[in-house]
Amino acid sequence: MSTSSRGVLDQPVCIIGAGVAGLINAHVLLQDGFTNVTLLTRDASVGGVWARERVYPGLYINNVHGEYRFSCLEMPPPERSDATGGRLTGIAMRDYVEKFYETHLKGKAHFSFQTEVLGIERRRASPAGDPNEPSIWSVRVKDLPSGQVREENFARIILATGGCSNPQVPPYLSEAAVSGAGYQGLVFHTSQFSTKLDEVLELVKPRVNANGPEDERVVVIGGGKSAQDVCAKLANEGRRVTIVFDRTDVFLATPDPIPDFARKSRFLSILHPHRVLKTRLERFLHTTWLGGKIVHAVMDLLSTTSYKAYNIPLDSPFRRAHSLFWSVRLSDDGAVRSDSFYSLVGVGAIDVVAPHRVKGYSTDGSGVTLDDGTTLSAKVVVLATGYQSSWTDIFTKETVEEIGFGKHAPTLPIEDNWRYSSMKDGPKPHPDSRQWTTTIYRGIVPAKNLLHRDFAIAGALFTANPGYTNEVVAHWISSYFQNDRMNIPKTTEEVLVEAEKESVWMKIRFPDMLSWVNDSYSTSLDFWTWPQAADELLEDMGVSPQRSGGGWFTWPFKIIDTKELSTLGEERRALRSAHRRK
Ligand SMILES: Cc1cc2nc3c(=O)[nH]c(=O)nc-3n(C[C@H](O)[C@H](O)[C@H](O)COP(=O)(O)OP(=O)(O)OC[C@H]3O[C@@H](n4cnc5c(N)ncnc54)[C@H](O)[C@@H]3O)c2cc1C
Ligand SMILES: *[C@@H]1O[C@H](CO)[C@@H](O)[C@H](O)[C@H]1NC(C)=O
Ligand SMILES: *[C@@H]1O[C@H](CO)[C@@H](O)[C@H](O)[C@H]1NC(C)=O
Repeated sequence: MSTSSRGVLDQPVCIIGAGVAGLINAHVLLQDGFTNVTLLTRDASVGGVWARERVYPGLYINNVHGEYRFSCLEMPPPERSDATGGRLTGIAMRDYVEKFYETHLKGKAHFSFQTEVLGIERRRASPAGDPNEPSIWSVRVKDLPSGQVREENFARIILATGGCSNPQVPPYLSEAAVSGAGYQGLVFHTSQFSTKLDEVLELVKPRVNANGPEDERVVVIGGGKSAQDVCAKLANEGRRVTIVFDRTDVFLATPDPIPDFARKSRFLSILHPHRVLKTRLERFLHTTWLGGKIVHAVMDLLSTTSYKAYNIPLDSPFRRAHSLFWSVRLSDDGAVRSDSFYSLVGVGAIDVVAPHRVKGYSTDGSGVTLDDGTTLSAKVVVLATGYQSSWTDIFTKETVEEIGFGKHAPTLPIEDNWRYSSMKDGPKPHPDSRQWTTTIYRGIVPAKNLLHRDFAIAGALFTANPGYTNEVVAHWISSYFQNDRMNIPKTTEEVLVEAEKESVWMKIRFPDMLSWVNDSYSTSLDFWTWPQAADELLEDMGVSPQRSGGGWFTWPFKIIDTKELSTLGEERRALRSAHRRK
């Protein structure tokens, strides 16, 4: 091994965040020979969104068994797997990330739990591309139990703080608003649901009979997946719960589990256009008149099937959902279950107040006021008002500017340069999207900092398969840090344009989404098209894409298994030594 690469491997790397993204990045770095890997997390345990302190029994997630795992560790099937089509539970995810930590990371990487990162600053930048002259990143952290603040220095940073790990609460529902109105009940955000659950069950007595006005009530504000999960849990515990929302996420449901060749293959992903159409079939689907018709017919069929699976009436507020094709807000409900949100709504176990917005807490302190002036009494108010980027707090404006990962004025027009037939007559781009852009190449590297190879973002690719995507990204970042030869732009000017083009694509492809998606996800919304996006990253590394194989007719139905990534480290090592020998 050459001295310069040994140098990089011995320089300390800091990973901020111990969710799935942070964990797999730590593992790949260790496998690649990095000797000093530190993970910082403000939580007391690993897992991030799936950490012990966040999941609760009865929580089903969007993914099915086999879909959300890493190549080096099997996941046992979740409970009731047969009946639910392998639907993963929050508990199964918690157990998996904890086992991954125990098996592959404990004692090998340094973990600082309950350690909040307060600030990150680059004290000295290395001359671009010189691995022997590392940057110095100063990371200011607070040990949460003792309150002590200290500083540590690292050569490289991986930001894996989660695209959505900070709660978002509008001012009129905030703590200040609670005390302003003198509201007496309990208020918390869905992110705290697991820790508050016992208190809620104690505070709110089980309902006496259905629709009994004498029953105490929990009001859940919001229409997304978290809101629905909370409602389902409380209704299944026999509590009276009312959901208030304006618009919901679109959902997928089928009477029976979707077979693996359709669910876990490229089939659904190629029905969505990617920025680059690599295969003949994708070009047919998205550039011909007939292809476009087929795409939308399948989308319509999926929507219709889902509404029908739960007998949702035509005039139901649940049909006021974001579009299946034009949005990345999807709640995948899977096979119909009798204890799921929509079943419980169907039997009247969850009250629905929609389309309505909550305006604030009522002045008599009894509950919340709606946009039509009526008051809903509530013993508990759960704010399912969403999550926001966790980046903003830990970087100063100067640092964001220096590394180049904040919003800035666009230089390219928001134009549909693709003119795909499947994207005709879409919604207009959000007005805000003309005001700003971000330039984060591949959703991983701030374009402006590309040549430094000392800062990367993990977990910011919006994907329907975070296990697979994050593992590929981890290899990409490790190659990038090691100065491997990669098929990526060579100059800052080139990469800035490339990254902005990615951003323009996202604005055209998902015109509505920028109103809620934050900086964290602003350049890569490859939700359905995650296999195509992962293939691009594999090509960047010079290893083979489309690893699920198949013949000219069978490839769209071949199951994509994360295990196909298990040799990636070796393949990259072989390429690296071949390049060095030259
Ligand atoms: C309620 C909810 C439900 C979801 N459901 C699904 C689903 O069903 N399917 C799916 O595929 N995806 C789902 N997601 C998306 C989910 O975010 C990803 O699947 C994945 O878990 C994200 O992993 P991550 O490692 O990127 O971030 P996270 O899991 O959010 O981890 C972030 C880590 O960063 C740490 N951190 C953040 N800020 C700081 C700081 N300042 N100092 C120290 N540490 C910090 C946190 O402590 C944590 O360890 C859901 C997200 C949420 C919020
Ligand atoms: C690893 O990096 C940390 C942070 O810079 C440093 O304090 C520590 O001494 C390093 N450990 C080794 C063995 O080099
Ligand atoms: C996140 O999105 C919301 C809109 O949904 C916006 O109000 C907020 O400012 C955004 N946060 C960041 C950090 O961009």
